[in-house]
Amino acid sequence: MDNILEVHNLQVILKRGKQKITAVDQISFSLKRGKTLGIIGESGSGKSLTCMGMLGLLDRKLWDVSGEVVFEGKPLSIQNRKAMAKICGNKMTLIMQNPMSAFNPVITIGKHFYESVNKPGSEKKTKEEVTEIATDLLTKMRIRDPQAVLHSYAFQLSGGMLQRIMIALALAVQPDILIADEPTTALDLSVQHEIIKILQKLQEQYGMAILIVSHDLGVIRHLADDVSVMYAGNMVEQGSAEIILKDPQHPYTRGLFASRPAFSKERLIMMEGQPPALEERLEGCRFYPRCKERCEDCLAYHPGASCKDEIHQISCVKYL
Ligand SMILES: Nc1ncnc2c1ncn2[C@@H]1O[C@H](COP(=O)(O)OP(=O)(O)OP(=O)(O)O)[C@@H](O)[C@H]1O
Ligand SMILES: [Mg+2]
Repeated sequence: MDNILEVHNLQVILKRGKQKITAVDQISFSLKRGKTLGIIGESGSGKSLTCMGMLGLLDRKLWDVSGEVVFEGKPLSIQNRKAMAKICGNKMTLIMQNPMSAFNPVITIGKHFYESVNKPGSEKKTKEEVTEIATDLLTKMRIRDPQAVLHSYAFQLSGGMLQRIMIALALAVQPDILIADEPTTALDLSVQHEIIKILQKLQEQYGMAILIVSHDLGVIRHLADDVSVMYAGNMVEQGSAEIILKDPQHPYTRGLFASRPAFSKERLIMMEGQPPALEERLEGCRFYPRCKERCEDCLAYHPGASCKDEIHQISCVKYL
């Protein structure tokens, strides 16, 4: 299979004094060239830490991150900051879940575009060229007065506006891979649909691959070619969207879909129980306390070990 990106054994550990708490536990996944991978899972399962961790963007004072990223067939250690910096923000760009934290408050939106397009190593563009690219993308994102926005600072704009600007910023460098962590959550439904359509169109146009994290199964259904399901820092099920959405096997995935649309944060969670907090995670299968199909073997199970077949991976003792 033609993978543009593979992530192997990504581990993210929270350092709390002398204590080390594993938040993302040796997960692996891949993204096919020009295709979309959707990552789903309840709040707190580690989706954002996965996105930030794989790009080497987590604060090293607080987090230990290890693992390997294979980009275009070339393996890179995530700990190799220099090598990661070369592809991050350039070949791979991120739309962060929290738009506010993505902007520097003391520089204008226009300057953000300029700096992002003229990252070291990229072909230099003039201010006029950048303004043209930015104006075009902001217009596509349904921002009415792009010129005024380019002269504004982040604190002068609403969350919904910033989210759309962040998408435009991420697209301005025409990345090979777009990583979108809940890219449309702060937006009205009609704008959400519009932006999803634009992403799809740009993907067709430029052949970019997309990794999208979403609570919205509608978005995943619409966009994803492949789906990965996360629970408490583990990947519990992975496969083509067709397989996962039509015939989910892991008891967690089935519970998640059955509770739809309730697994959205804003709505009531109907699947019984809550995901464990970082420090409450069990040895063995972490879904055990909530699983309707649990058995004794689950407690001795090491997550990540099992597989139904090559194209459908299920991390559950039933499939060992
Ligand atoms: N800075 C931090 N300090 C301590 N714990 C953190 C920090 N950031 C994240 N965590 C914890 O790590 C776990 C995974 O967080 P993460 O943000 O990746 O979840 P998520 O799947 O993206 O959730 P959501 O759907 O709400 O965005 C959660 O239990 C969260 O509380
Ligand atoms: Mg998140």
